[in-house]
Amino acid sequence: MAPIGRIGRYSIVGRIAVGGMAEIFLARESGPRSVARNVVVKRILPQIAEDQAHIESFVREAELYMRLRHPNICATYEFGEEAGSFFLGLEFVHGVTLRDLADRATRAGGMPLELVAKIIADVARALHYAHAQKNKSGEPLAIVHRDVTPENIMVGFDGSVKLLDFGIARFKSDQQTTTSNGTLKGKFAYMSPEQYRREPLDARSDIFSLGVCMYETLTGQSLFDRGTEFQTVAAILFEQERPSIRTLRSDVPEAIDAILASALERDRAHRCPSADVLERRLLEWLNGAGHIVRNRDVGEFTAKMFPERARAGPKLNRSDAVRESTAPKRNRSIETLAFRADFEEEEAKLARTQRRKKMAIGVVGGAVVLGVLAASAYAFSASTNRRADELSPAPSRQDSGEQPSREQPSREQPSREQSTTKN
Ligand SMILES: Nc1ncnc2c1ncn2[C@@H]1O[C@H](COP(=O)(O)OP(=O)(O)O)[C@@H](O)[C@H]1O
Ligand SMILES: [Mg+2]
Repeated sequence: MAPIGRIGRYSIVGRIAVGGMAEIFLARESGPRSVARNVVVKRILPQIAEDQAHIESFVREAELYMRLRHPNICATYEFGEEAGSFFLGLEFVHGVTLRDLADRATRAGGMPLELVAKIIADVARALHYAHAQKNKSGEPLAIVHRDVTPENIMVGFDGSVKLLDFGIARFKSDQQTTTSNGTLKGKFAYMSPEQYRREPLDARSDIFSLGVCMYETLTGQSLFDRGTEFQTVAAILFEQERPSIRTLRSDVPEAIDAILASALERDRAHRCPSADVLERRLLEWLNGAGHIVRNRDVGEFTAKMFPERARAGPKLNRSDAVRESTAPKRNRSIETLAFRADFEEEEAKLARTQRRKKMAIGVVGGAVVLGVLAASAYAFSASTNRRADELSPAPSRQDSGEQPSREQPSREQPSREQSTTKN
């Protein structure tokens, strides 16, 4: 599809989604000789680009994302700023959100239990990786995602499961500022009780949210959404009667019901203690029940639910408004940062390669000069010999047979240069 705009060094193909604070674009990144790949560009919405708190949030997301490299977390390639607006270059996930997958699968008879267990185990693995991050001095960073929802989990048509959008995650150091502008962020029906109580959060908050995602993926119904925000919050904080999932899906075994109940414990002191434990429990269940679920199985199911999307990619908005908003700006200034920590290393590597190149050029140059000198010396001595031969005719006939073989070294000269050049 022909590009319709440009952000940074990415050609914009169309808009995938507009969220609360950013727009998501499908884009192409090209390298030399027409090598190109799909990427996603996430750009802060122009209308809130002036809002300092949102910009802070976006910059934090960039910082955070760039630390995280995990197969179940959508990768960040670049953090950039163009003409005053920030953007991220992200790995493109060719797939659908867990929300879309669960909705469609529910209409088709329900998500297979073992696939749900595998998907949730993958997200738990990603969360545990993020939760366990430490700074350079080895102190825990206490990262909490805070926004684990079915919209922020993507399932690829290759079966890869990716957690997105660390948009409102915070480091331990600024836990006090979680509500910088007075509003609780996150999606109401997925927030943990302690999030509502504005307590300092830890990894267990994300486990609660992931439990809600799992419940909803299995049942196709919302667990806490009661229509109004007030009632939803009340359900999360106070509702005593929580119907067992088995009343909605009779094929859910007790073991899964127990795993869910533990993730959804209102009191985090009694909740499943870590994402690592949650992942292990799910894998133990899969193993014990004799399920072998490969990424491919997840991918094939997802592609079966969304054949058109698997073939043609995400639905794109290519309207005039989107074209307008991504039109290349004149005199645009672009600043980007691709993994600051790696930069120094890259620069050092570049300097080393350049030094090596210079040395190689020196060696090749030297070899060429030597070769030329040797050849001319040889030519000079040959002509002197010839002249000497002309003067003494008797031995010349004997030597004439050797003449070609003596020329051999001077003919080899160029080939020796070539091989030096290759080094
Ligand atoms: N890397 C990606 N690949 C494919 N689709 C994506 C990607 N990132 C986001 N999306 C789509 O855009 C939506 C919004 O993205 P998200 O990062 O969650 O933004 P927001 O901060 O607005 O919630 C997602 O629910 C998903 O449908
Ligand atoms: Mg999101």
